[in-house]
Amino acid sequence: MGAAPGSCSHAPAASSYLLITLAVAATTTTCSQVTAAGSCIEVERAALLSFKASITSDSADILGSWQGHDCCQWGGVRCNNRTGHVAKLDLRNRLLFSADGLHGEISSSLFTLRHLKHLDLSGNFYLEFKASRVPPPPQIGNLSKLVYLDISITGAFSPLDISWLSGMHSLEYLDTSFVDLRASDNWVHTVNTLPNLVTLKLSGCSLITSSTPPPMHLNLTVLEELDLSGNYLNQNALNLFRDSSSLKRLSMSNCELSTTFPDELGNLTSLETLDMLGNNLKGMIPATFKNLCNLRYLYLGQNDISGDIADLTGRLSNCSSENLQKLVLMDANITGTSLQSVLNLANLETFDANSNHLSGSVPAAIGTLTKLTFLDLGNNNLSGVISEDHFAGLTNLDYIDLSHNSLEFIVDSTWNPPFSLLVASFASFHLGPRFPDWLQWQKTIIRLDISNTGLISRIPNWFWTTFSDAADLNISFNQISGKLPLNMDFMAVETLALQSNNLTGLIPQLPETIQVLDISRNSLTGFAPVMFQVPSLQVAILFSNSITGTIPKLICQWPELRTLDLSNNFLVGELPDCGREELKEGKPSSTTINGRGSFRFKIKTLLLSNNSLSGGFPIFLRQCQYLIFLDLTQNKFSGNLPSWISEDMPSLLMLRLRSNNFSGQIPIETTELVGLHILDLSDNNFSGHIPHSLGNLKALNGTADPLDPLTENPFQEIYLMDLRYSVLGVSNDILSVTIKGQVLDYRQNIIYLMSIDLSSNSLTGQIPDEISSLAGLVNLNLSSNLLSGNIPRNIGKLRSLESLDLSNNQLSGKIPLDLIDLTLLSYLNLSYNNLSGRIPTGHQLDTLGRDDPASMYIGNPGLCGRPVPRQCPGDQPTQGGDPISWHESGPSRIDFLLGSIVGFVAGIWIVFSCLLFIKRWRYAYFRLLDRVYDRGYVMCILTWRKWFKNTGAE
Ligand SMILES: *[C@@H]1O[C@H](CO)[C@@H](O)[C@H](O)[C@H]1NC(C)=O
Ligand SMILES: *[C@@H]1O[C@H](CO)[C@@H](O)[C@H](O)[C@H]1NC(C)=O
Ligand SMILES: *[C@@H]1O[C@H](CO)[C@@H](O)[C@H](O)[C@H]1NC(C)=O
Ligand SMILES: *[C@@H]1O[C@H](CO)[C@@H](O)[C@H](O)[C@H]1NC(C)=O
Ligand SMILES: *[C@@H]1O[C@H](CO)[C@@H](O)[C@H](O)[C@H]1NC(C)=O
Repeated sequence: MGAAPGSCSHAPAASSYLLITLAVAATTTTCSQVTAAGSCIEVERAALLSFKASITSDSADILGSWQGHDCCQWGGVRCNNRTGHVAKLDLRNRLLFSADGLHGEISSSLFTLRHLKHLDLSGNFYLEFKASRVPPPPQIGNLSKLVYLDISITGAFSPLDISWLSGMHSLEYLDTSFVDLRASDNWVHTVNTLPNLVTLKLSGCSLITSSTPPPMHLNLTVLEELDLSGNYLNQNALNLFRDSSSLKRLSMSNCELSTTFPDELGNLTSLETLDMLGNNLKGMIPATFKNLCNLRYLYLGQNDISGDIADLTGRLSNCSSENLQKLVLMDANITGTSLQSVLNLANLETFDANSNHLSGSVPAAIGTLTKLTFLDLGNNNLSGVISEDHFAGLTNLDYIDLSHNSLEFIVDSTWNPPFSLLVASFASFHLGPRFPDWLQWQKTIIRLDISNTGLISRIPNWFWTTFSDAADLNISFNQISGKLPLNMDFMAVETLALQSNNLTGLIPQLPETIQVLDISRNSLTGFAPVMFQVPSLQVAILFSNSITGTIPKLICQWPELRTLDLSNNFLVGELPDCGREELKEGKPSSTTINGRGSFRFKIKTLLLSNNSLSGGFPIFLRQCQYLIFLDLTQNKFSGNLPSWISEDMPSLLMLRLRSNNFSGQIPIETTELVGLHILDLSDNNFSGHIPHSLGNLKALNGTADPLDPLTENPFQEIYLMDLRYSVLGVSNDILSVTIKGQVLDYRQNIIYLMSIDLSSNSLTGQIPDEISSLAGLVNLNLSSNLLSGNIPRNIGKLRSLESLDLSNNQLSGKIPLDLIDLTLLSYLNLSYNNLSGRIPTGHQLDTLGRDDPASMYIGNPGLCGRPVPRQCPGDQPTQGGDPISWHESGPSRIDFLLGSIVGFVAGIWIVFSCLLFIKRWRYAYFRLLDRVYDRGYVMCILTWRKWFKNTGAE
């Protein structure tokens, strides 16, 4: 499915794609042959040995065979069988996934091999050109016979100037992809001195075209392939190549182009592949596309074409509509009410129009496009019925995505489709209520998504066997009932999404392959009573079921587990301590003996709220050094908080122990959790003082960097596999947070909350002054304790505070004037203390508690002044003491208006901008990852199968 090549603007996607591409490249490259004739020339052998000597490490064993006298027999070396000179050196790192290849500097001796025609050093991240950075090594100019040079991903971490390539007249193939050429201002001139270039790959090289193009005519008259993807270019870059009538393949994907499609593209009359994916090109393709008679692969997705699909296809020449095999238009703002025009593209194999604004029905005649293998119409506004006719001729179809439209599937229950799918995506598509029977003939499926399709039925027995080879299965958000098979060991599934259905029974024995499991919001009642190995399980989301009993020791044997959510179940008893006995059964991934146990879990998110778990603070957490989110809210845990909290869980970002029976002092060590954003110890029996070292909570001091929503979100199920990323989306879990006097539901936006809640305990002593250093704090709740003394004088430094609750304590003294500096405050409660003196007024303070402002101060008989009725000594009596009447008096009215606008806008904006940010981000970023994943995945599987078959046949 050769889609988007590398991208620089979206680094993770680029790298995952890169890896995929390289995987394919690696599997298709043949091994270098060895000459039969003669032994090598001594000076060349010396040169090679000198090259070897400057290599400091060789993790891929590339030079392992460089021993013995005849260097022509060494791995990767090939000599001319007539002259005996070294002609080819292929030191590519083929194990890019598992080894970083050669480390060290490229010895200049390499450049004495003047008869070299073919040099491949690619994939060796850490192999640097000696003194290469700037200036370049002049010696390489000696390699004037070089025909083929591949230094892609070679020394990829330091900038390289390529002007030394000037004058290599023989060069036909040049690949410097993913080498930093920022220092090569003159790259255009350099390239222009290589008149025989046929292939030029400069992907991801940080190239920038200056705003004024050099007024030059390029000499590259035989250039056939040009890859400029993933650079920062403008249209001038294209102008350089406007006359390259020999060009067959051009990629300028992900280059941040934001003009219209240049007319000059029409000059490239030999063009077969045009890849402009992932820019911000605006408007319809120009009429000059009529000249592109040879076009076969056209990638225009992720631009802003904003035109009709019929107009677009109408602008392709008649001959190209015969030749066109791939038309990739996803996410390009394309409209249209009819797909009729696409039916003229009789040889179409790939049609990808995902995420556009197509409407109307899908013509049944699409079934006549018999070459179609890849059909993606997902995320459009298509409506109407899809029937057997639509697939009549689609015998080659292996990828279909019709998700997120208003389409309905109506086929006979005996229908046996003509295709064998690999990927079937029908999310939010009307398939139900009956479970689609035809799926049972699709044993080849590796990825199935029938989530939210209105299925109301039992899960058929064949489901598990038919899809026993599938990697991704998603049947979530239906009303599918029935039990899961007790044993899923025969399956190969990696991600299994069953959430929000009506499944009953036990959590089964899972397949060894499983990585992500989501069965939340079902009616499962427990764990199957067997021990099973799930060496790869990373995410287990089991919240909101009816799971009873204790948490099984089984979890001690899930070494890769990163997220476990068992909230809202009926679990009882203590957590397993995962001591030596349990661990012996599993395979500990680390055997460091450090007194704390010999095993470390990788768990980052552990959510156990709303069960009836008991016992002390779980000892098993001592082995969870990566833990970020811990929620034990609403259980029956008791005892003291251990002092090892900060030492053994140094990364904690959220610690929620609300509504348990914990007691004793809050250990000082809690304040050593420098990353802590949310500390909720409310509704327990903690006593003693609030630690003075509270100010050590650095993440709350207002200077910390914002969290990364990608990795630091408790509800984001991301997982990483060998060759691919995937995002399973956000789990539907909610954290209820008491803030602003009410219980608010936080979802993913929880990561923007900074909160300390110690309410409803028996804490005594003063509120430490040090608290004022927590300038990032949004919520502070110390209510319902036995705190005494003054409110800290410099409380006004908590400038981010939106909610402050100190009610129901024994605080005394004056309310500090500084309080008026809290301009974001939208909730304040100081009631039921012994505060006295004048209530400060002004700014935001005057806007709070608008219905009944006095309630914030009630139960403090010593307070006087607005908004309480009691006058302060020496004040002018106000008319009638009406709490509203103060609005009438001059300056505070303005304060009121200002304050309310600032407060309102700021409060709302903070919440909404987070959501907006996440949504946009999700669309732009996650969709990209997802799509790369889809394509990469299919490609990998296909390649892998091919490769496996080939090697198997040998
Ligand atoms: C030399 O090698 C080339 C390519 O490997 C081969 O085609 C040619 O027949 C060989 N010539 C001799 C004399 O072995
Ligand atoms: C183009 O090629 C010609 C002949 O090969 C050469 O004389 C000329 O200098 C080249 N132009 C540039 C800009 O390098
Ligand atoms: C290239 O295209 C432009 C605009 O379409 C045209 O003016 C120019 O003559 C073309 N150049 C060649 C060499 O065809
Ligand atoms: C899509 O196109 C319409 C015009 O057809 C334009 O108003 C809108 O801004 C475009 N949307 C995006 C996201 O580019
Ligand atoms: C599935 O569960 C939901 C929620 O519990 C319930 O409303 C619905 O009736 C159930 N459907 C079936 C088919 O049991």
